[in-house]
Amino acid sequence: MSTVSTSTQSLIEGQLWLPDADATERCGVRLSPAVQRHPGAMIYLHGDLGMGKTALTRGILHGLGWQGTVKSPTYTLVEGYEWDSMRVFHFDLYRLADPEELEFIGIRDYDTADAVCLVEWPDKGRGVLRSPDVILHLVEQGAGRLLHWHAYTPLGQQWIEPLKGEQQV
Ligand SMILES: Nc1ncnc2c1ncn2[C@@H]1O[C@H](COP(=O)(O)OP(=O)(O)OP(=O)(O)O)[C@@H](O)[C@H]1O
Ligand SMILES: [Mg+2]
Repeated sequence: MSTVSTSTQSLIEGQLWLPDADATERCGVRLSPAVQRHPGAMIYLHGDLGMGKTALTRGILHGLGWQGTVKSPTYTLVEGYEWDSMRVFHFDLYRLADPEELEFIGIRDYDTADAVCLVEWPDKGRGVLRSPDVILHLVEQGAGRLLHWHAYTPLGQQWIEPLKGEQQV
């Protein structure tokens, strides 16, 4: 896959068929316990415009019990969700002109051991954004999407555990 932003080999990888938008959100819900159990993860969300990266993030947040809306951070670059002991930061770097801008928006304050960062268009932050624990890559296939997942670290392996052995959500 051309957009995978790491030269490191993944420890484990697989794919999952998501037939419709509901399946994408359900996949996020399935991943949500990992956010609680394994904070500190950097998750890259790859895929073309409109492939479901935000929909997947919405599923994760709803699965965690977030009751509010989940908007695309296209213009704000980052949306933060902090409640109880949960800290989730959702980035969309599509409009980032220069990776150095990540320093200005305070990436070091978001990327902490107790937070999970989900990043759309991570290539735009290349060189500043740290390497991922997990890459989730959504590709159009027929009327649905194929999700390719890769875990690059032991933390990422734990994160991806709910998708192992699944063919379809
Ligand atoms: N598995 C699926 N099959 C078909 N349609 C889907 C699937 N998952 C999501 N969609 C649809 O695709 C669109 C995805 O929009 P979304 O905003 O999540 O994309 P995105 O990847 O975040 O795009 P952008 O890069 O513009 O932020 C929505 O219209 C959603 O209903
Ligand atoms: Mg999006």
